[in-house]
Amino acid sequence: MCGIVGIVSNSNISDRLFRCIKNLEYRGYDSCGLAMLTPSGIEVRKNVGSVDDVNAVEHLTEPQGSTGLAHTRWATHGGVTQINSHPHLSGDGAFAVIHNGIISNYRELKEELSASGHTFVSQTDTEVIPHVLQDEFEKEQDVERAMFKTFKRLKGTYAFAFVTTHAPRQIFCARKESPLVLGIGQNSTFLASDINSFIEYTRDIVILNDDEYAIISDDTYAIKHVQTGERINRKVQHITWSAAAAQKGGFPTFMLKEIHEQPGTVKTALNIPQEEITTLARMIHDSERTYLVGVGTTYYVSLTAHYYFAQLAGKFLPVVSSDEFEYSAEVNERTLFLCCSQSGETYDTLKALRFAKKRGAKSAAVVNVVGSSISREVDHAIMQSSGPEICVLSTKAAISQMVVLLRTALEVGRLNDTLSEEQYQTHQHELQQLPDGIQWVLNRRLSRIQEIANAHAPIKNWLFLGRGVYMAIGMEAALKMKEVTYQHAEGMAGGFMKHGTISLIDKEMFTQVFVPPASQTDLYESTMSNVEEVKARGGFVVGFHFGASDPKFNAEVIFPDVPPLIAPLLQLVGGQLFAYYSAVKLGRNIDKPRSLAKSVTVA
Ligand code: F6R
Repeated sequence: MCGIVGIVSNSNISDRLFRCIKNLEYRGYDSCGLAMLTPSGIEVRKNVGSVDDVNAVEHLTEPQGSTGLAHTRWATHGGVTQINSHPHLSGDGAFAVIHNGIISNYRELKEELSASGHTFVSQTDTEVIPHVLQDEFEKEQDVERAMFKTFKRLKGTYAFAFVTTHAPRQIFCARKESPLVLGIGQNSTFLASDINSFIEYTRDIVILNDDEYAIISDDTYAIKHVQTGERINRKVQHITWSAAAAQKGGFPTFMLKEIHEQPGTVKTALNIPQEEITTLARMIHDSERTYLVGVGTTYYVSLTAHYYFAQLAGKFLPVVSSDEFEYSAEVNERTLFLCCSQSGETYDTLKALRFAKKRGAKSAAVVNVVGSSISREVDHAIMQSSGPEICVLSTKAAISQMVVLLRTALEVGRLNDTLSEEQYQTHQHELQQLPDGIQWVLNRRLSRIQEIANAHAPIKNWLFLGRGVYMAIGMEAALKMKEVTYQHAEGMAGGFMKHGTISLIDKEMFTQVFVPPASQTDLYESTMSNVEEVKARGGFVVGFHFGASDPKFNAEVIFPDVPPLIAPLLQLVGGQLFAYYSAVKLGRNIDKPRSLAKSVTVA
């Protein structure tokens, strides 16, 4: 996730451009830069570091002009270097582009353009955009037509904007699955990833939808459809948010914002190039033993993956908490150490990784922060590109890691012949339904979950039960609950509960049960027998389940009828929302719960 800004005005914009990009810094903070159209061409200034750091070196407000772009980067492709920072220029210097998203076919485009004489200087996917624009402009001799042709060649997700010396009083921008909004000011028009960027200059906005592009100048704008070029009329909206609310995209907290970003981050995880997944699958397939390693939420991510590998690939992958790895794991040259880490800096996971490497193990990781220690030290890092996760509690990063590992399990299943080609294709298709499924839960079940959370927020003790992969989901949901509400929540296997913990059940101990779809007959029936056991002891049961309403539950949330492969992940979103609204009711500090830090870099 990166932040993009553009301004066209009838007066100098240098100070405004600087303030606008500063306001977007939370979207990415490893490097930043700007491009200003000046009488002598496009001037680019960029470097690594925060906006203030870069400004100290590059003097970002020095270039004067009235048409310009700026970008704050959260690296996905290519390390954190000055060259890889945005904006990127075309070979002839006539186009400067900023981009948020991933161009998934950038390798093919680079090869194709290199063969026709283009030279690339960065390792980014973005740099192909100005080169394609130049290529198309040379044929079309018209900027809008060149842009139109460019859309046809780009695959992946984007919000991008460009300035060009061929049309110096305009900015061109487009959106496909990455946010983009226009700000309509007095003799100035803005574009940005987020309203927060320009809210101090205008509150009149026009939101671009997917597959739309816009051409803006100081006093007008036109929105058109990417496929047809047809003009779209959209009303200007006036917003009343404060600047602080806008930074959270209008959400009251980063946690809620990040929960709502999950359909998008899951899509991003589904778009990670297949070859990266296949490389990891081969490493697992070729290893004698693969350990799934993580701590806290990433432990539960690993536990979820453990079940997917068992079901889909017939592989038993031991799960070890990073902090316990050294004490229990048997490691040699035929071992694969596979960990997940949002920050890529967690001390316990890093220490376990170094321990495994020292004993000759191969290593791989799914990581969110580019350039982080774990991503640099493993043999194969898959960058999940979920964008900055600001809330201390991990939500969107965790679900994306689950998706990456689920994709890998499918690939191992194919390599192992555990899955037939038909089953493999069916599961791939099912996986594609996940973003919409999550969106459905957010649209249709949020208020029901909030209602139950409000009614039971004072309950001090919770048991979260599930079986199989639902146990892992229940454990992660329980971690969310205790972290943010400070109420006790214990995740446990339904079968295990009978062997001790059942003695705690009474009217004060509430239970949340993660029930699989009834089509998974054995799992469903044994989970429902746990419901009976709890109820027989006077316990109150909140059921997260699929299918028809069931009076066995004291309170219920019914999830949509989706394939069993993705069903548990929808319940996880329900668990996140439940923890969130319980904490809101209790007046907790949601984004920064007591005693917790975003990245635990100490022993
Ligand atoms: C829980 C949470 C933590 C982290 C854990 C690992 O919501 O965020 O349990 O999952 O500290 O952190 P990363 O993923 O940065 O390695």
